Amino acid sequence: MTDATPLPVARTLPDAETVTEVRHWTDRLFSFRVTRPRSLRFRSGEFVMIGLPDDRGKPLLRAYSIASPSWDDSLEFYSIKVPDGPLTSRLQYIRPGDQIILRPKPVGTLVLDALLPGRRLWLLATGTGIAPFASLLRDPETYEKFEQVILMHTCRELAELEYGRQLVEALPDDPLIGEIAGGKLHYYPTTTREPSARMGRITDNLASGKVFADLGLPGPLNPADDRAMVCGSLAFNLDVKAVLEGWGLREGANSEPREYVVEKAFVGDGV
Ligand code: FAD
Ligand code: A2P
Repeated sequence: MTDATPLPVARTLPDAETVTEVRHWTDRLFSFRVTRPRSLRFRSGEFVMIGLPDDRGKPLLRAYSIASPSWDDSLEFYSIKVPDGPLTSRLQYIRPGDQIILRPKPVGTLVLDALLPGRRLWLLATGTGIAPFASLLRDPETYEKFEQVILMHTCRELAELEYGRQLVEALPDDPLIGEIAGGKLHYYPTTTREPSARMGRITDNLASGKVFADLGLPGPLNPADDRAMVCGSLAFNLDVKAVLEGWGLREGANSEPREYVVEKAFVGDGV
C-alpha cells in the first residue's frame, strides 16, 4: 500500500463525497464509507455510479451497490481490488479525507418492492455480491416483511467471508435492527476451496437439500412462501436462476414484482 500513486487532487469535483473510513479485509477486498449527499434517497439494495477522475480529469465511474441501509447517515461500499482494473487499481488506495465521485441516481432490482409478499426471504450471494444484502440486512423493513431471512454467502476462502460474518454478528447489538431481527435471521456462509465448517456452492447446497436440513427449514423453496434475491457472477446467477425456476419461482422486476430478483455483482470477462 505504501507505493500508492497519489490520487489526483480535485478541489471542485462535481458530485464529490468525502471518504470517512476505509477497512481492508484481504489483499482483494476492502470496504469504505463516504459522506451521504443530502439529495440522495435510495431503497436498500440499490446501486449507484461511483469513481475517481481519470488522468485527464474525466470521471471514471463504475456501478457499486450501496452496502449501508437507506436510513444511514453515511454510505458504505464493499469493493473488490482488481490489480489492473481501471478504477479499483486506484480506488483501493483511498484514505479518510480523500474525495470520490458519486452520482446520486440510485437504481436496481434487488429491492423489496420487486418481490411479492412472502414468508421467507433467501439472499444468495457470492463474493462482493453480498453488498446489496449488507444494506437489506440492516433495514428494519426486511424483517417487517418476512418471517425469516436466510443469507447464503459463498466464497473460495474463509477470509473472503469475514466482512459478511462481522456484519451479521453485529446485528443483535444494533439498536435499530437487533430486536426486530432477533431469531429471524439465518446465516449460511460456505467456502468452496478452503476447508471450513460449512462448504459447497450455493447451487449444490440448495439442490441437494443440505441447507434446509442444516437450518431446519422446509425445502425446497416454493412459490407460495419463498422469495429470493440473487447476486453474483453471471454464471452463478444463471445457475441459481435455473434452480429457482425449476421450483416454480418466477423472476420479478420493479415494474412486475414476482418471486425472485437477480442482479450481476459485476460484468466480467467479456460478458
Ligand atoms: P473493471 O474493468 O470494471 O473490471 C475488470 C474485471 O475485474 C472484470 O471484467 C471482472 O472480471 C473483474 N471484476 C470486476 N468487479 C468484480 C467484483 N466485484 N468481483 C469479482 N471480480 C470483479 N464491484 C464491487 O466491488 N462492489 C460492488 O458493490 C459492486 N456492485 C456492482 C453492481 C452492479 C449492478 C454492477 C454491474 C457491477 C458492480 N460492481 C461492484 C463491479 C464494479 O462496477 C467494477 O467492475 C469493479 O469496481 C472493478 O472496476 P475496475 O474499473 O477496477 O475494473
Ligand atoms: P468454486 O470455487 O467452486 O468455483 P469466483 O471467486 O470465481 O467469483 O467465485 C466465487 C464463489 O462462487 C466461489 O465459491 C465459487 O465456487 C462460486 N461459484 C462460481 N461460479 C459458480 C456457479 N456457476 N454456481 C455456483 N457457485 C459458483
